[in-house]
Order: sequence, then structure tokens, then C-alpha cells
Amino acid sequence: MTQTNEIDARRSGTFRIGGELEVVRLGFGAMRITGDGIWGDPRDPEEALRVLKRVPELGVNFIDTADSYGPYVSEDLIARALAPYEGGLVIATKGGLTRTGPNVWPPVGRPEYLRQCVEMSLRRLKVDRIDLWQLHRIDPKVPADEQFGAMKEFQDEGKVRFLGLSEVGVPEIEAARRIIDVVTVQNLYNLTDRRHEDVVSYCEREGIGFIPWFPLATGNLAREGGPLDEIARRLGASPSQVALAWLLRRSPVMLPIPGTGRVKHLEENTAAASLDLGDEDYRTLDGLTV
Ligand SMILES: NC(=O)c1ccc[n+]([C@@H]2O[C@H](COP(=O)([O-])OP(=O)(O)OC[C@H]3O[C@@H](n4cnc5c(N)ncnc54)[C@H](OP(=O)(O)O)[C@@H]3O)[C@@H](O)[C@H]2O)c1
Repeated sequence: MTQTNEIDARRSGTFRIGGELEVVRLGFGAMRITGDGIWGDPRDPEEALRVLKRVPELGVNFIDTADSYGPYVSEDLIARALAPYEGGLVIATKGGLTRTGPNVWPPVGRPEYLRQCVEMSLRRLKVDRIDLWQLHRIDPKVPADEQFGAMKEFQDEGKVRFLGLSEVGVPEIEAARRIIDVVTVQNLYNLTDRRHEDVVSYCEREGIGFIPWFPLATGNLAREGGPLDEIARRLGASPSQVALAWLLRRSPVMLPIPGTGRVKHLEENTAAASLDLGDEDYRTLDGLTV
């Protein structure tokens, strides 16, 4: 299973964002192609470019990034490696977080700043319209409706095709949906952190794409002799592949975006599209608590 020949992300199936934009469910998160603390250039820029060029070769057509990754580094590298995004490649980006140092992400949701985020992402990604623009965080210092209202303007002006939110609960999604059509939600979610279970269920019910970030944080489950390790060994898979296969099976609206700066890990993670968990293994994994 961990072998990397004939890897094809398309085996994970597809999902239509906003009912229209078809993406292969197992995507790629482009946060790890930057420096430590998601700050500055990656240690090995050539390897980062190799990763990005390998993404579509493996059948992945959904890449998640943000203006704040680097900042700007991730979007710039994506454009360098992949513009003009042929073959149905979908680039989702985010705005609304500023960067004042490594691992520091102050939110700024003032409409004029969000507009700058969109305008600069358009320029860096070299596109006329952003496929999916996500508000990285709702800024608690600014009325939420003003932030959603700005997003609606970007869509009405044709600068973004679809709109999504990140790190939100059901009440926030419902508040936003009074103003905009929310087609994706990107929240922290993995086998060991299920705090957003209600949001997954809501998204599934409403046909909203759920993009789990930090999908590989297998934590204690990946430990030598742990339950994930045991299932992985029996299936001839790696713990990260088991974690991704569990996510893919958890819901048809689940769009995992595992991140890496290495081709080897990209190939290993994408091979999870071919890993079928049996009912019993799925139930065992589903019931695990850490
Ligand atoms: N909306 C938000 O607030 C938010 C927050 C965080 C992330 N995200 C998005 O979610 C994506 C995924 O999140 P993430 O990158 O934090 O978490 P992740 O995908 O769960 O884990 C990435 C980490 O795991 C390592 N890794 C990847 N594949 C591996 C493998 N096969 N074996 C061993 N280690 C492996 C990577 O290191 P190497 O580079 O060395 O492989 C990296 O340090 C990001 O790229 C970003 O697009 C969104």
C-alpha cells in the first residue's frame, strides 16, 4: 500500500463545490511549502516546486493556500509552478489574517483590508477570478455582517467564484448564510480532534464541502504499537494513509488537504485514495479516543 507507483487521487471520488465546481476529494494543502513558523521561503525551494508540479500528476486538482502562508510565499510558488492552471486545477485561497512574525496570525476583518487580500491574491495567483475565497477567521473586532457583506461584494464583482469560511461553528455558518452562499467550511478536524463533529454533520446535511485542516495530526494513535499503527501494519499502509482513508470515509463532503513540503510524503499521502477501510476497521478507528 505504501508503494508509490500508480498513485491516483481520483480514486477518492469527487465533490462539486457549490454544486458546480468538481474537485477530486483528496486535495493538497500548500501551507508547508514555506519556512519554519509558516514564515518566509522554504528551506528547499526547488523541492517545494517539485511538490507542486507533482500534485496534478498524481490526479490531485484541489489545492488550498492562503495569502498569509509565508506570507505570500505559498501563492507565489503555486503561480510559478502551475499557472495558468490547466486541466481543471482548482486553487482555493484565504484572506483576513495578517502576519507579524513566525507563527503569529492576527486577524483583521475590516472590509477594506479583506478587499486588499482579494486583489493581491488575484495578482499573485495570476488569475482573473479566484475559484474559492475563504475568510480565514471571522475577526471578533469587526461586526461579522460587515465581513460577510464584503465577501458578497467580491463575488458580485466577479473577483471570486465561491465563498467559504474557516474555524466556525454552526451558528456562525448560519449567520453568514443570511448574507452569502457558504459552499465550504475549513475547520480543524482529524481522528484525534473531533471537536467539530456537529459542523461535519451540518455540512453533510446541507451539501457544504468540509475541509479538515491538520488532517494528519494522528498524535498518540500513530505511536508504535498504538491502535492506528496496528491497523496500518495489517493493511500494509502507513498511519497517515489510515488517517486520511478514515477522513474520506467519514463523510462524502469531506475534502482532506494533507500538507507537506516533500514529494515523498505527497506521494505517500495521495496513495491513501486507494486505501479502502473495511467496516470493522472504520468502526474501530471511529471509536478511538485519545
Ligand atoms: N484554515 C486554517 O486555519 C488552517 C490552519 C492550518 C492549516 N490549514 C490548511 O490545512 C493544510 C493541512 O494542515 P497542516 O499542514 O497543518 O497539517 P497536516 O497536513 O496534518 O500535517 C502536515 C505535517 O505533517 C508532515 N507530514 C505530511 N505528510 C507526512 C507523512 N506522510 N509522513 C510523515 N509526516 C508527514 C508534514 O511535514 P513534511 O513537510 O516534512 O512532510 C507537516 O509537518 C495546510 O497545508 C493548509 O492548507 C488551514
